[in-house]
Amino acid sequence: MEVIIQPDGETAAWLAARIIARELRRDPYITLGLATGATMERVYRWLVQWHREDGLDFSLCHTFNLDEYVGLSANDPRSYHQYMNRHLFSQVNIDLRDTHLPDGMAVDLEMECRNYEALIKKFGGIDLQLLGLGQDGHIGFNEPLSAFQSRTRVKALTPQTLEQNARFFGGKENVPRRAITMGVGTILEARRCLLLVTGAEKAEIVARAVEGPVTAMISATALQWHPRCTVIVDEPAAARLQGREYYQWIFQNEPEWDEFRRKDAGR
Ligand code: F6R
Repeated sequence: MEVIIQPDGETAAWLAARIIARELRRDPYITLGLATGATMERVYRWLVQWHREDGLDFSLCHTFNLDEYVGLSANDPRSYHQYMNRHLFSQVNIDLRDTHLPDGMAVDLEMECRNYEALIKKFGGIDLQLLGLGQDGHIGFNEPLSAFQSRTRVKALTPQTLEQNARFFGGKENVPRRAITMGVGTILEARRCLLLVTGAEKAEIVARAVEGPVTAMISATALQWHPRCTVIVDEPAAARLQGREYYQWIFQNEPEWDEFRRKDAGR
């Protein structure tokens, strides 16, 4: 695991987007794992901008999203299908047939989960998985005590997650109670993981996720086992990290990161 601290949320999102764009240019047929939520909006904004200004090409890639709410149709403006259309898919040259999200309206949810897993396999697995972090330590919607070997399945959302997402539904009571999510095991099989965490309200949980003991109570700690996981945080989210200086030293000195140091950062 490597941790990169950026001065602010915008630069943190810029770096995550830069890594995605670089991998996409390197392999136009890449299979991307995508996330939703407030943190990711800025990442997609950068990708859309580079598509428009520099011709960043999405025409050959495939995408799999982490999750979708149970009971919301793909046309529901609050669904993750629509989130993705709004923030990315409708604004770049991706073929919608190459984008995949679980169907929250499936009659047989178990079958839907199995099919989703099979489809990911059919595409040769996920090359780069983008992840956000929930207040309760979830990645995807893998709530506390999700098994590290879990696969795509239906999960009940915790009161904390309902609270966290209440703003998108006009109140906690309107948030769907369940979601289909890739499992922790599914996520760990991605060839590379990119966890983006911003904001002071995530400082405590990101410190526990990155530096704390590995525990199923905090699903994101499973990423400590991943052979290639990059964690990008902004300064406010990094406030509780013990190893801040070491992480900063690595980022400033490792040649691998030369092209990712933004000259105008923080301006
Ligand atoms: C959404 C997802 C979640 C979010 C997390 C953070 O697809 O997988 O794990 O990434 O809840 O959400 P925000 O960015 O809204 O704080």
